[in-house]
Amino acid sequence: MANVKFDHITVRYGSHTVLQDFSLDVESGKIVCLVGPSGCGKTTLVRALLGLNKPETGVITVGERCLFDAKKHVNVPAEKRNIGIVFQDYAVWPHMTVLENVSYPLKKQRRPKEEIRERVMHALEQVHMTEYARHLPNQLSGGQQQRVAIARALVVDSDVLVMDEPITNLDAKLREEMLLEIRMIQKRLNATILYITHDQQSALQLCDKMAIMQQDGTLCQYGTDEEIILHPANRFTFEFIGVSNFIPLRQAGSGLALDCGELIPYTGEVPPQAENGGFDLGVRPNDIVFDPASPLKARVDSRVFLGSEYNYFLSLGQKQIRVQQSMLDARTRGVAKEGETVGISFLNTRFYPTQKGEQTP
Ligand SMILES: Nc1ncnc2c1ncn2[C@@H]1O[C@H](COP(=O)(O)OP(=O)(O)OP(=O)(O)O)[C@@H](O)[C@H]1O
Ligand SMILES: [Mg+2]
Repeated sequence: MANVKFDHITVRYGSHTVLQDFSLDVESGKIVCLVGPSGCGKTTLVRALLGLNKPETGVITVGERCLFDAKKHVNVPAEKRNIGIVFQDYAVWPHMTVLENVSYPLKKQRRPKEEIRERVMHALEQVHMTEYARHLPNQLSGGQQQRVAIARALVVDSDVLVMDEPITNLDAKLREEMLLEIRMIQKRLNATILYITHDQQSALQLCDKMAIMQQDGTLCQYGTDEEIILHPANRFTFEFIGVSNFIPLRQAGSGLALDCGELIPYTGEVPPQAENGGFDLGVRPNDIVFDPASPLKARVDSRVFLGSEYNYFLSLGQKQIRVQQSMLDARTRGVAKEGETVGISFLNTRFYPTQKGEQTP
């Protein structure tokens, strides 16, 4: 298995630039999740790696092997790139048995029969599907079909596995099972997996590292899930990964106020650049705690018990905010009741300039 390096890749469709100078290094033997909103260019990047579109600039290498170099006019054909792919809309072929589906890439390479059989059985073992070798896809569950698709990607001994939204069609429970399965397969093979999704929850469950892409096709952060949640590089990452509350901060008289439809005096800490307002205060629901001594008061609109935590909606002035309370915190501080007015404190706040068009008059 090998690392995958995108170096200053630019891809355009006509006059529409999807990727501009895009660089990312996917380390060998890791699962890297590329996460970004729909239409930001994730599949476009995958297609460049597979050789299905041709970037205008840049270099793509897998391990020591250069697959594409715009300046040197290197462009290895798709069928010689040796990359296993599982696409959402590239399901198994319904008219072929499991065995035939997984054999197909090797038959295309005209491998000897004996070798095909051996490698197919090995790939099926890896995804625990040996006993279904003679089944047709319509005799399998969605998750089993997806495993066949993974076996078909594994069978070619690829240097890298790319999965582009492979499980979005499955129901929640199966999705969770498949994520575990993918993780186990990755560990067994020490595979390099580039996993593409717009679903941050799957990414958090699966990845060693996350690459966060913005709507304009730029990479805004690359790091472990912990780095991304605890130290988001910018407002986009903070908002896109995890749950967040934003409250506008305004200057009011000589001090600051939270603009919640009505101005609520704010005396917490702010960085020097936010001292004159014009910023949004960002706070995660689990960084808001009930604190009877706090002058900041909110009303409890609803409380839901989710098994391992409580989820609240509070009204702070006219603004609704979300609060998560762990069981431990609920035991020590007590739970808040619906309809009650509570004091709240923010444990960890961030400040981002108010975006244009968002400013409330
Ligand atoms: N063949 C094409 N011709 C023209 N424009 C395209 C083509 N393929 C994609 N695009 C455009 O490029 C942009 C990026 O598309 P892409 O499929 O890479 O997004 P994505 O991040 O994979 O989105 P999703 O999460 O919805 O799969 C979109 O604006 C899309 O409309
Ligand atoms: Mg896509």
